[in-house]
Amino acid sequence: MIIISGLSLSGCQNHNRTDPSVEGMKVKVYKREGSEIATLTAPPNVPEPINRDHATTVTVELEIIEKTMAIAEGVEYTFWTFGGTVPGSFIRIREGDLVEFHLKNHPDNKLPHNIDLHSVNGPGGGATSTFTAPGHETTFSFTALNPGTYVYHCATAPVGMHIGNGMYGLILVEPENGLPEVDREYYVMQGEFYTKGTFGQPGFHPFSMEKALKEEAEYVLFNGTVGSLTEEHSLKAEVGETVRIYVGNGGPNYVSSFHIIGEIFDNVRVEGGDLLNHNVQTTLIPSGGATVVEFKVEAPGNYILVDHSVFRAFNKGALGMLTVEGDENKPIYSGQINDQVYLPEGAAIATPETAEVVAPPAADSRDQRILRGKTVFAQNCQTCHQANGQGIASAFPPLAKSDYLNAEVNRSIRVVLNGLEGPVTVNGALYNSLMPKLNLSDEQVANVLTFVYDSWGNNGTEVTPQQVAAQR
Ligand code: CU
Repeated sequence: MIIISGLSLSGCQNHNRTDPSVEGMKVKVYKREGSEIATLTAPPNVPEPINRDHATTVTVELEIIEKTMAIAEGVEYTFWTFGGTVPGSFIRIREGDLVEFHLKNHPDNKLPHNIDLHSVNGPGGGATSTFTAPGHETTFSFTALNPGTYVYHCATAPVGMHIGNGMYGLILVEPENGLPEVDREYYVMQGEFYTKGTFGQPGFHPFSMEKALKEEAEYVLFNGTVGSLTEEHSLKAEVGETVRIYVGNGGPNYVSSFHIIGEIFDNVRVEGGDLLNHNVQTTLIPSGGATVVEFKVEAPGNYILVDHSVFRAFNKGALGMLTVEGDENKPIYSGQINDQVYLPEGAAIATPETAEVVAPPAADSRDQRILRGKTVFAQNCQTCHQANGQGIASAFPPLAKSDYLNAEVNRSIRVVLNGLEGPVTVNGALYNSLMPKLNLSDEQVANVLTFVYDSWGNNGTEVTPQQVAAQR
């Protein structure tokens, strides 16, 4: 016998039917058989699809662990976690399942916590039944009435602080007929962090309530760490495969403009619900919401996951990578076919004259070179290498105290002139990003390099336009 919404029903042979006594709402009645213990996974992994053709009783056991981990290279933060990871363990159940939920608060933890699952119909989404002190375990149950992809989070006061320390994750309630089969499934969740220190500043950083109240995050991250989804941690797929990513947003404050550079979402399960949108470039994920994106990968290469509020991506960490391997697919994406000089009619005559008129006189001292170089740096280099030359871990190498720069000045000149692609080791860390070729004059290259060499503990080399010309 199954009781749903106060109705007592028995002997039902169908998986579902409509009860006409509930006005305006379809009440499904589920045949429920057996019991099982849910297998939970750490991000970016997702449990196997459910292949039951019936509902069951599922036991979910989730342990809260407070632990200090790296939020970026050389930066430590004390996260509060569901299952030891940020985001918390992925939970996968089926519509109609009766979930017996066990929340365990590890004895070494310092604080009480609870859980609000957005998949629950009931007060607090479970929070009112799961206030759990360290060293305790609480239990409650709910029936998964609504299929969809839902956020869960801690709702213990101060709620923003518990969420801001990483206490969120996703629970997928599969529809009774399941989701269409795909080749790969992944779990990504965005959240922002408010640390006392600035982005990338080495050391241990406590939570900053002041920055959280002002909504001025230092970090905006996928899966809790700068670099959690880049380089060797990138998501993987092969050309021709279909990929589904369950994407959540824990917040606590920001809305995400989720985008994958170089991909179009064939399907978006809007806000994690039933509405299916097609051919989408960027999809919004509210704080405390989720979405499901599905696409086929057509060509090999790296596809970059970003929050398209792009300063968050390139300056605050909201950057992931999907690496697709396989044969080139030239009709779909050719790659660069040609790069040639473009000279509109008359340009060959006009350009040098214009250049002569506007070019400032050459710097006449090392100090002037440094001053002008600072402007060139701010306009061309700072976004990636950062204001203090610290770079961005796993993405853009540091210029501060850079062994690479200080080793060979002519090589540095050629990098600025020609750009740099492929792996490079700087101060012991490997980087594999793309620096574009910059269209700078010899004077500008000399100035910016002299500025960089004069800054942040580098060796003070002065670079002259003559040296730059020799490397062109
Ligand atoms: Cu909590």
